[in-house]
Order: sequence, then C-alpha cells, then structure tokens
Amino acid sequence: MEKAESHFTKRAEKYNHSSNWVVDQKLIQMIFDLAEVNENSLVLDLACGTGLIANAFHGRVKKVTGLDISSDMVKYADGCMDEIIFSPIEKMPFDDNSFDACVCRQGLQFAELDKAIPEIHRVLKPGGITVLCHLTAYNEIDKDLAFQIQELRNPARRNYLMPDDILNALKKQGLREAENIEYITEESVNKWIDNGAIANERMEKIRNLYRSSNEKFREIHKIKFTGDDILDSMLLVIAKAKK
Ligand SMILES: C[S@@+](CC[C@H](N)C(=O)[O-])C[C@H]1O[C@@H](n2cnc3c(N)ncnc32)[C@H](O)[C@@H]1O
Repeated sequence: MEKAESHFTKRAEKYNHSSNWVVDQKLIQMIFDLAEVNENSLVLDLACGTGLIANAFHGRVKKVTGLDISSDMVKYADGCMDEIIFSPIEKMPFDDNSFDACVCRQGLQFAELDKAIPEIHRVLKPGGITVLCHLTAYNEIDKDLAFQIQELRNPARRNYLMPDDILNALKKQGLREAENIEYITEESVNKWIDNGAIANERMEKIRNLYRSSNEKFREIHKIKFTGDDILDSMLLVIAKAKK
C-alpha cells in the first residue's frame, strides 16, 4: 500500500479538477446543512486537503480548523479556514469535547477506522454533530469490481467501504441518531483516473475493467460508454450522527 502522504503530494496540483464531486456545490451545501452549525460553532474539517469543505463553513461559524497530514494539499487551501493543524486523524492534538461539528469528506478511507472513530467521538462536544461523506460500493453485487477499480485508482486507500460501514462504526462508538444519506455522482472515468498519481498502465487497466464488466455492474452503476470516455454513477454515502 502506498503512503497517503506521498500519494497526495503527487495529486495536490490536480486535486480540485480530479472528479465532478470534488467541487460539486450541491454536495458541499448538503454537508454544510447536515452539520447544523451557527455563528458560534467551532468546526473541525478532518482530512481537509485543499480546503473545499472547510471553505463552505469559513466566515459562517466562529472558527474552522482544518486537519491533514499533507502540506502539499494544504498549500492550495489558503484562505479556506481559520487554522490548519498537521496531524493524523487517528491521534489528534485536541482536548476532549472541543468541537460542535466534525466533518470529513473522502478522508476516512485512508485512516485506521478503529482509531479514527474514537478520536472523532472524543473531540466532539456532547450534542456535537459529525458528518462523514465517503465513496462506497452499492452492494454485494458490484463490490468486488468497484473495490478493484478503487484500488487501482488509489493505491494509498486502506479501507474499501460498504454503505453502512461508517454508520455502524459511529453507532458502535455510542453516537446517537445515526443516519445515512445517499448521494449519486456521475463521473467521467477518464477525468477521475487522471489524478496525477497513477501511471498510464493503471489507467488503461481501469478502463479495461469497465469494458469487461458484466451487465449487473453496468446496471447498478448506470455505466455509459461515450466516445472514448466511460461515465460511472458512483455512490457517496454521508453518515451523520450526534454525540
Ligand atoms: C481525497 S482527499 C479529501 C480532501 C477534502 N476532504 C475534500 O473533500 O476535498 C483526502 C485527504 O486526506 C488526507 N489524509 C489521508 N490520510 C490521513 C490521515 N490519516 N489523517 C489526516 N489526513 C489524512 C490526505 O492528505 C488528503 O488531503
């Protein structure tokens, strides 16, 4: 497995153009609304990267803290947050009960979940809300191929997620009112795989996996072959819960 830090060093420059979901304002607004913040809220954006999620909160709450391990990604987050802390999610340098909201989009697939979820619970204030948004497979039918594609596209990925995985981890940790919200995003495979961190050979392997996929996978993912591109309707699941 590649290290997440070096993977994102290679991706930082292209990151904001590496998929449709990355700058999808409807998705970003949904994450903002689900966090139920106000002008007095202290917000933590986990794995903040180039600051696209933090930026939605910045100026609308009391303070936005971004946390990440990649200085190369954060270089592009100028002006998106009030402070940046370099630390892994698994061991955060914050006191217990520090934040009104902890949000994360597309970060926990790189983290050790059995350490990250307790940390999120610990740093949330009682009554605080967490909103965690991640790419998942749809079900048992598409998961093998979906995970094979995800691994080729991102060799630093540690976790391959099913829709209920994060939700169940939050419930197990004792968080309340846990719920999932599904969000489908249609992605150009050519754009998604050209992430700056994988070789052409891997990109071609991914295209070939789509070309040789079976009918069930194509149906679930609403696969469309258009000219030299492939469109895949991917599933993002937003898990929300309260401490
Ligand atoms: C796919 S990007 C997501 C960035 C941002 N959250 C967004 O939605 O655009 C993943 C980010 O997770 C960070 N990351 C990976 N593993 C991490 C860890 N264990 N702790 C903190 N950040 C991590 C990477 O450096 C990268 O910036």
